[in-house]
Parts: sequence; structure tokens; C-alpha cells
Amino acid sequence: MWYNTDYNLSDKIYFLLFTNEVAAIVLISCNEKDTQNIGYYIGQRVKAGDIILLYGDLGSGKTVLTRGIAKGAGVESRVTSPTFIIMNQYPGNCPIFHFDLYRLSDSEELYDLDFEDYLYGDGIAIVEWPEKMAELLPKEYLKVTINKLEDDDNKRIIKISSYGEKYESYKEVFKGYESTCR
Ligand SMILES: Nc1ncnc2c1ncn2[C@@H]1O[C@H](COP(=O)(O)OP(=O)(O)OP(=O)(O)O)[C@@H](O)[C@H]1O
Ligand SMILES: [Mg+2]
Repeated sequence: MWYNTDYNLSDKIYFLLFTNEVAAIVLISCNEKDTQNIGYYIGQRVKAGDIILLYGDLGSGKTVLTRGIAKGAGVESRVTSPTFIIMNQYPGNCPIFHFDLYRLSDSEELYDLDFEDYLYGDGIAIVEWPEKMAELLPKEYLKVTINKLEDDDNKRIIKISSYGEKYESYKEVFKGYESTCR
């Protein structure tokens, strides 16, 4: 069931309910800036040890969202896509590790990259193309899925859900959510 009266919010935020629990938050982004803004809300809550997995097609906005998350987490430099080098590290309120696993041919390569040390280390791990993690998929993580809408090049549906209790509190940050779109 789709439900948008909880938390008394605008028509830009929806809650996907499952047996009366909020299972996911679903937001409509109207442009790049709005997706960054959504990331910023997440970034304000993010803390050392957190893992955020970003799902979505090529060009859906995972790096744009990461830019907002990083800003919210105190990163001052501009986040760029780490596609060719797999990981970029940024100093923020704590270290931020931004992975793009698209070019990985085998999840075995992650062992050579000490991937798990970053994932379960003292920073925040943000991963694009987590499908490539295969058996290294963590038990608990915040999952964000970005989908393009066919009828509008600039609109995205962004679904945020928690896997594991640790990430339940992320939903709270959207209580005060205000879209930058009209
Ligand atoms: N609502 C929107 N949110 C995010 N990006 C948008 C939106 N509308 C248009 N765009 C455009 O879509 C592109 C998103 O690019 P981005 O690099 O973030 O995608 P990505 O999901 O990281 O792709 P990849 O899988 O190749 O890394 C940008 O060019 C951005 O300007
Ligand atoms: Mg990207």
C-alpha cells in the first residue's frame, strides 16, 4: 500500500507500508539538485561504520546522490565518479569511502582491494553497483534505489529502505524533509 499522510508531509514523499511498519521511504526527485538535496538529508545522519548501497541503472543519479550524502557528512571537495579507480576517499566528519564497482569483473578482486576493511572500518562506505559484491553483501545496510521515469528525463523515483535495525533511524531524518521542487 502507498501511503503519504504519515509524518504529515507533502506530495513529494511517500511511505511504503508493510504490516503497519514503514518499510521504505519513496521520494520523487525532479532534477539533479533535488537528488543532491535528498542525499544531503541522508548525509546528516550518516556516521562512521555505516554502509550505504546505491542501486540503479547507468546515469540514474547514484553519484549525484553521493555528492549530497558527502556534503551532509562534512565533505567540502566535490565528489566525482570513481569508475576507473574503483574507490575515492574523502575526509569528512569521518573518512568517506566511495566505491563504484561497475568495472569489476569478478567479486574475487574485492579481496585484493581489502574491500572488507573499508566496508567494516572506521568510515562511511557508499557503494555504487553493489550487485558486484556478490557474497560480500553485508547483513545490514541502508539501501537506496534510484529509478528513472520513462516520461521525464529529469525525474527519478528514489526508494530508501533499511536492511537491519541499525538503519531504521534513517527514516527519521525525512520527517522534516522538504523537496526543492515545486
Ligand atoms: N533527478 C535527477 N537526479 C539525478 N540526476 C539527474 C536527475 N535528472 C537528471 N539527472 C542527470 O543524470 C545524470 C546522473 O549521473 P550520475 O553520474 O549521478 O549517475 P550514476 O547513477 O552514478 O551512473 P553510473 O552507474 O554510470 O555511475 C547526471 O547527468 C544528471 O545531471
Ligand atoms: Mg556513478
